[in-house]
Formats: sequence, C-alpha cells, structure tokens
Amino acid sequence: MTASLIGERIQDLLDRRSAVSLQQQLYRHFREMIEDGTLRPSSRLPSTRSLATQLGVSRITIVAAFDMLTADGYLVGSIGSGTFVVDRPPIRSHTVATRAVPPDAISLRGQLILSGASGLQQREGAFLPGVPDVAAFPYAVWQKLQNRYLGQHLAQLSGYANGGGYLPLRRSLADYLRVARGVRCNPEQVLVTMGTQQSLDLIVRLLTDANDQVCIENPSHWAGALMLKSLGVRSVPVNVDREGIDMRDQHYAMNPKLVFVTPSHQFPLGSILSSSRRERLLREAAQRNFWIVEDDYDSELRYDQAPSPSLQGEDSSGRVIYLGTFSKVMYPGIRMSYMVVPSSLVSSMVRGLLSLYRPGHLPLQAALADFISDGHLTRHLINVRPLYAARQAELRKCLAETFGDAISLSSGFAGLHLTLRFRQAVDLDALQAQAAKRDVLLRRLSAFNHDVGPFEDGFVLGYGALSQDDIGTAVKRLYEVYQTTHNGPC
Ligand SMILES: Cc1ncc(COP(=O)(O)O)c(C=O)c1O
Repeated sequence: MTASLIGERIQDLLDRRSAVSLQQQLYRHFREMIEDGTLRPSSRLPSTRSLATQLGVSRITIVAAFDMLTADGYLVGSIGSGTFVVDRPPIRSHTVATRAVPPDAISLRGQLILSGASGLQQREGAFLPGVPDVAAFPYAVWQKLQNRYLGQHLAQLSGYANGGGYLPLRRSLADYLRVARGVRCNPEQVLVTMGTQQSLDLIVRLLTDANDQVCIENPSHWAGALMLKSLGVRSVPVNVDREGIDMRDQHYAMNPKLVFVTPSHQFPLGSILSSSRRERLLREAAQRNFWIVEDDYDSELRYDQAPSPSLQGEDSSGRVIYLGTFSKVMYPGIRMSYMVVPSSLVSSMVRGLLSLYRPGHLPLQAALADFISDGHLTRHLINVRPLYAARQAELRKCLAETFGDAISLSSGFAGLHLTLRFRQAVDLDALQAQAAKRDVLLRRLSAFNHDVGPFEDGFVLGYGALSQDDIGTAVKRLYEVYQTTHNGPC
C-alpha cells in the first residue's frame, strides 16, 4: 500500500468528534491494519511528517502513536531510515479463523466444477501437451503493431468493445478463414472471444437449458464437458475411432441440442472425420435442427497435406458454429479466439457476448487485425510448420528406436501432440509419477475420457515446445523410467 493510500485509509477512520484521543485512535487503527494483514510485514510506513500533513494532525501525536506501536512490538524504526512493520507482527487469533473456508462455502455447482477440473497445474516439463513454441513467435513485429495502437489511437480504443468485436479484426478473420479454411461468412458473423472456453460458455448458455443433451466426442478436451456439467446440461459421450466421432442412430434419435466436434484433427486422438460421417452429421443437423459446434483449434498445423475443409464451409443449412483460437498459431497467453455463427444467430450471440462478458481489449484486437491482414500470421505459420513437422518426426523416430513394438502412436502428421499407448499392461500411475520426478510430464489420456466403460488409457505427448535435442533426452528418460517401473529395478 502506498504512503498516501495509507494516509487516506487512516483519514477515513479517524473520528475527530470522538472522546477517544487522536493518538489512541491512530494507535488502534494502525494496530488493526497490521494484525489483519492490510499492512504487510516489513512494509514501510509513511513518514510522520508527511502523515501529519496529510491528516492535518500534529506530528507529535503521530510520533507518540508510533512510539506506542513500537513499544508493543508492531513497528521498528530508526532515525533516517524510516518506520517499518516488524517482520513477524502479532496476529489476532480471530483473523486466522475468519480466513479459513467454511466447509459449506463452496456451492454444489462449485463442487461439481472443482471435482471435474482436470487442467494441468504444472506448466513446466517435457511433453507439456498442446503448447506451441512461443520462442518462435515474431515478437518484434507484434510489438510494433501493438505500439501502433497504444499511442495516439488509444483514446479511440479505450472503451468497451461493441458488436462482436473490433470490426477490422472481424473483416480480417472473415477474409483469412475464407481462404485458409473455406469458411463462408461475412464479417458480421465473426465474434471475437477471449479463449475457446468463453466461446463454449456463450454457446451453451444461449442455446441449451438444464437437462438438455449434448453429444461430445469421447475422448475429448475436458473443458467442454466441464462447461456442460457446470451448467447442468447432460453430455452424451460418443465414441471416436479412426474416422472421427461415431454418431449412431441412437445418438441422433435422442435429438441432442448440440454436437461438439473437432473434425479436422480430433482432440486428442488425431483422427479426421470421414466424408460419409461429415455428410450424415450435416444432414441430420439440418433435419433435426441441432447445432454442430466445430472446434477447429489447430487446423493450420498440417505438415503433409492441406487440412480437410471446414464443416462450416459445407453446411448449406446454417447449423454449424465454427470456433477458432490464436492459442496454437500465436501463443496461449494471448487469450484471443473467435467464433463464426450462422446468420440466424448473429444478433442473439452478439447481445449475449456483450451482456455476459463486457468484452474489451480493443488495442489488442486492432493489432491482431493488422497481424492477419498484413500477412504476418501466414508468414509465421510458414515458418513454424517445418519446425513442428521435424519435431514430430524426431519424436516418432526416438520412440520407435527405444520402445519398438511395445507402443502404438496416433497417426497423422499434424498438430502439436501425439498419443501413446502401450500394447501390454503397464503401471501408468507409477510411470507417470516417476517420470514427473525427472521433469517428464505425462498427461493421461483418461483425463479426456468422459464415459464410465472400459477405456484404453495412455499418454498425450506434446512436442511443440521441445527442441530436437530435448526430444531425444526426454524419450531416453521416459524409457529409463519405463524399464524400472515395467521390469522392476535392474
Ligand atoms: C480441443 C481444443 N480446443 C480448443 C483449444 C484452445 O483453447 P483456448 O482457446 O481456450 O486456448 C484447445 C487447447 O488445447 C483444445 O485442445
């Protein structure tokens, strides 16, 4: 707390008409602020002179109050260096008690969210899934573009966003998506969001009611399932195989409100939705009036062939809501993403977006618009694709050389991760725990399983942020740990 802020706080607390002297009042208020942690241990207090001026109180009164606090063990000070709260001030016992969370403080919905939360706490270590190589990002260009909008233009961009976001960004995205992904839309259909989770939240809140059913891929990213659960919507896990989500008659017959899919690169298994399943999904959506939520999270990262076109581009009935993100193609901390909604939903979705989240960050949106329209995004992708391709190839090679036939890997030359399964039973818990001790982070496939039946578990191995050398080292460590946990200590 700054010196003048402390003075303001004390000013508000002093009661000049009270029978209690100002010295006593100062003593009591400072003591309470130290005991309840408002004034942190070892923090510096304003000088008695400045405090006296700010409070309009004689300096002698302040010095006397500080002397009492010093005598009682709250303050230390020396002439010339100032007055400080002691390192370990006496803490009132009830302060601690009020900080403990009462057992019923977390709501039932809160408990549901916390029990289903499986996001990684650990953000360091080899094989962290889904993260790009942030070191390869063109920061100099990005900074220049941001500076453009943090200078004289800032005043025009310092309010809330209106509509579905900054219009030039929506235009850039519509142009980019038309060419890169075959998405057919006008800029009004593009809504800028702060992460895919926000896009999903908006969709689920606006298009479903409690107890509605939503089909989700199984396995799939935990965030979608958690979102549904937290809003009381029932998710129906649908098996994924080599052809993507395997929607059967019974799934269509239950008339889901939404179907969540990752058709161009299923997360986490990597399959591509086959053309017969795509056609049926689009046909059924048109006939039964459900919405397809197409999460195209990493479609730009294909290394051997062009990605399959977006479902949105093939949808003639306006039933597809298309989602994209900048987390993979730029960096995850940017928290910028977008959705392309059918024209029938534009007005409701924009109103929902504005009223639920009060979006902003217009300077960032403006810089992003230029980053795309000036061609920097495409150039960055051209630079990183060969990097990621080489890393995936290296990971496959190292794993094949060390593990041979003991493992199977997901197919597909795309994305930022591979999935690994062992052909024979392996103690995955032990392997995961031992590997973590050697900075090898193994994300369990079962973290993405939403069904109760048997599930073939394994690991998701992210390679995007690992150099070729680091990949070799991490695989070697993984194999050493595998040998000790699988065969017992040598
Ligand atoms: C399936 C899927 N969708 C979307 C995302 C990106 O989410 P966000 O935009 O919140 O970073 C990820 C990230 O790993 C993902 O796996």
